[in-house]
Amino acid sequence: MPADVRIADWAHGQTVCSHVPGRVIVPDRFELLREIDVTIPSPARIYDYFLGGKDNFQADRDAAQKALSLPDGRKLAWANRKFLVRAVRYMAKNGIDQFIDIGTGIPTSPNVHEAARSIAPKARVVYVDNDAAVLAHARALLANHNDGIEAIYGDIRYPSSLIEDRTLRNVIDFRRPVCVLFVAVLHFLTNGDDPYNSVAVFRDNIPSGSHIAISHIASDGASPAVMSTIQEAYAHAKAPAIFRTRAEIKTLFTGLEMVKPGLVQVSDWRASGRKPANAPALGFIGGAGRKP
Ligand SMILES: C[S@@+](CC[C@H](N)C(=O)[O-])C[C@H]1O[C@@H](n2cnc3c(N)ncnc32)[C@H](O)[C@@H]1O
Repeated sequence: MPADVRIADWAHGQTVCSHVPGRVIVPDRFELLREIDVTIPSPARIYDYFLGGKDNFQADRDAAQKALSLPDGRKLAWANRKFLVRAVRYMAKNGIDQFIDIGTGIPTSPNVHEAARSIAPKARVVYVDNDAAVLAHARALLANHNDGIEAIYGDIRYPSSLIEDRTLRNVIDFRRPVCVLFVAVLHFLTNGDDPYNSVAVFRDNIPSGSHIAISHIASDGASPAVMSTIQEAYAHAKAPAIFRTRAEIKTLFTGLEMVKPGLVQVSDWRASGRKPANAPALGFIGGAGRKP
């Protein structure tokens, strides 16, 4: 059985893939057919490869290898993932028990619900991604076995439809504080896609006391060679890698009170222990803001 058949198997307990070579078709919850093209590198599967996962294909690995020619490539991916886990735990410790994880990625332990439920056992989570492979894995491994957890197909470029999604609304109560995670996803949106609007629509629809956490690759301090290496790695991928300045990334937090220590390198955000000895080649910054 080809490796790609597993995705469909895991999701539905039976083989539902098409027999077009190199392609797998996964039905979503409305039984629409969404295609996984294993010949086009996907940000989700490239990241899975960075993290040492097995749910990636040759095209993803080839793209990832370009980025991994930079020093500390894998470490940076893990630093980002650990930022996500610390952000979730911070929110749960501060009484938040509802999470919307936008740009979920292929499941990687600990996942958002595991991190949240280690502190708030009844935490509710909606996973959102626009990659069919992520959805298949998330349904199979996360959502179907847990009350109060759902995985939905959604694209952050259409934030209003996401907020109106019936499944999301069944899990998340917008009258109580929510944490919305945009971790390592907004740099896959061009300025034309308007990531500022995507965050603002969520900010305007969540109540006071809610939080938004964001991480993003930053151009400040990155050499032109480093930026072009990353841009080339994603040049033929489903979405490009877009660097933004620190000031632009800060703008994403408009209307929110920054949680200390503010917008910093992801490895420094509320981290304990030793700091890395050398500054990384690539700025990967993150922070969280509270809606007043
Ligand atoms: C680098 S992974 C990040 C995974 C996880 N958030 C983390 O930081 O560990 C980026 C994810 O964002 C998803 N993504 C990219 N563009 C998106 C969009 N427009 N809407 C929703 N998800 C998107 C990709 O499919 C991928 O799963």
